[in-house]
Amino acid sequence: MVTGASSGIGEATARALAAQGWLCVLVARREERLRALAGEIGGEVELCDVAERPDVEATAARVLERHPAIHLLVNNAGMPARGTFLQVDPDLVERVMHVNYLGGVWCARAFMPGLEAAARQGGAHVVNLVSVAGTVSFAPAGAYAASKHAQLAFSRSLAAALRGSGINVHAVLPGFVETEGFPQKNVLASRLLRAFVIEPDDVARAIVRAVARNRGETVVPWFPYRLIGIAQALVPGIVARFVGMSGYRKGSI
Ligand SMILES: NC(=O)c1ccc[n+]([C@@H]2O[C@H](COP(=O)([O-])OP(=O)(O)OC[C@H]3O[C@@H](n4cnc5c(N)ncnc54)[C@H](OP(=O)(O)O)[C@@H]3O)[C@@H](O)[C@H]2O)c1
Repeated sequence: MVTGASSGIGEATARALAAQGWLCVLVARREERLRALAGEIGGEVELCDVAERPDVEATAARVLERHPAIHLLVNNAGMPARGTFLQVDPDLVERVMHVNYLGGVWCARAFMPGLEAAARQGGAHVVNLVSVAGTVSFAPAGAYAASKHAQLAFSRSLAAALRGSGINVHAVLPGFVETEGFPQKNVLASRLLRAFVIEPDDVARAIVRAVARNRGETVVPWFPYRLIGIAQALVPGIVARFVGMSGYRKGSI
């Protein structure tokens, strides 16, 4: 199961998994995009808004009927929320929590019977596509960072709850990645931050590696983001001031 497979990191991940022989069920809302990709990689399509719990539960019921064992769930569907907590529309503050945080929670719960069945057959994996914004409170995208902090807490809690069950939970934390929803090279104001923008394929490779090597948490790329995450834990005030100086270009919020 790859959620958010209609573009960006999810699409690249589905391609990388299919190249390794996985049969992928592609989940998102844009049907044409999903059908084109499914045709290319030999996958299946499920239309679903991950923020809507009944929609996720109905999707899981359909998929589990076809595939009683789910060996891998990639919780990747997500959306941006550029702007500080005071700049963004209150509806966006709510929506980004529903999609980025709760979407993964609903998928993990709904697909759990399939993951448990796969665990009994030898092992299952859940990958939560978080972000460096899950460890660093990036004020220029305040509500987004809060949603990713919640998602990381969910991922770590789920990993602990499932330890020893045969279901391994991985968190992948990319830095800035150039995608449709996150056109970082155009929107980031800081030239320094723009220099660290990576491509969806880089993250897809990290996801495949995290599953193959059973890695708990992976930051992509390791430098400089791991260090910034550590600095956030040690000296949050200084990091907040540093990242607060960067932000988005005028007109991109
Ligand atoms: N790009 C970055 O800089 C970056 C960095 C760190 C982490 N991430 C995370 O990586 C993940 C993928 O983002 P991306 O950069 O690849 O962006 P993207 O190209 O905009 O892709 C987002 C995907 O999520 C799907 N999606 C959005 N809302 C959905 C919903 N309510 N229900 C189902 N699917 C939904 C979209 O499909 P539909 O519109 O067809 O539904 C699309 O397939 C997100 O969780 C994001 O937070 C991104």
